[in-house]
Amino acid sequence: MSTTLRWVRVANTADLDEDDVMEVAVEGLRLALYRSSGGFFATDGICTHEYARLCDGFVFDNMIECAKHQGRFDLRSGKAKGAPAHVPLRTYPVRVAGTDLEIGLGGDATAPER
Ligand code: FES
Repeated sequence: MSTTLRWVRVANTADLDEDDVMEVAVEGLRLALYRSSGGFFATDGICTHEYARLCDGFVFDNMIECAKHQGRFDLRSGKAKGAPAHVPLRTYPVRVAGTDLEIGLGGDATAPER
């Protein structure tokens, strides 16, 4: 059974440069919001390997490289792409509404792809 997404404004498009990441707090969640390869993406804000804020990481080619041990994740799927990270990140849909960036919460799309 699918659940309807609730779209929540979290930032402006101008808040992120290309290959940039910022942390956003929304409804008790700490998420990482990215701009890369012309798209916007959102994942959980904490690395799945150990405790590290992904907003401190390095963004390139739709990937985030964790600042702590350089584990890598695909921003589109959340899949772990580089050791020592093996557990995928939860991803969230992002949409652009004018100059607003909105994250979709509460739907089936937030389930991590393993
Ligand atoms: S804490 Fe992110 S790779 Fe280790």
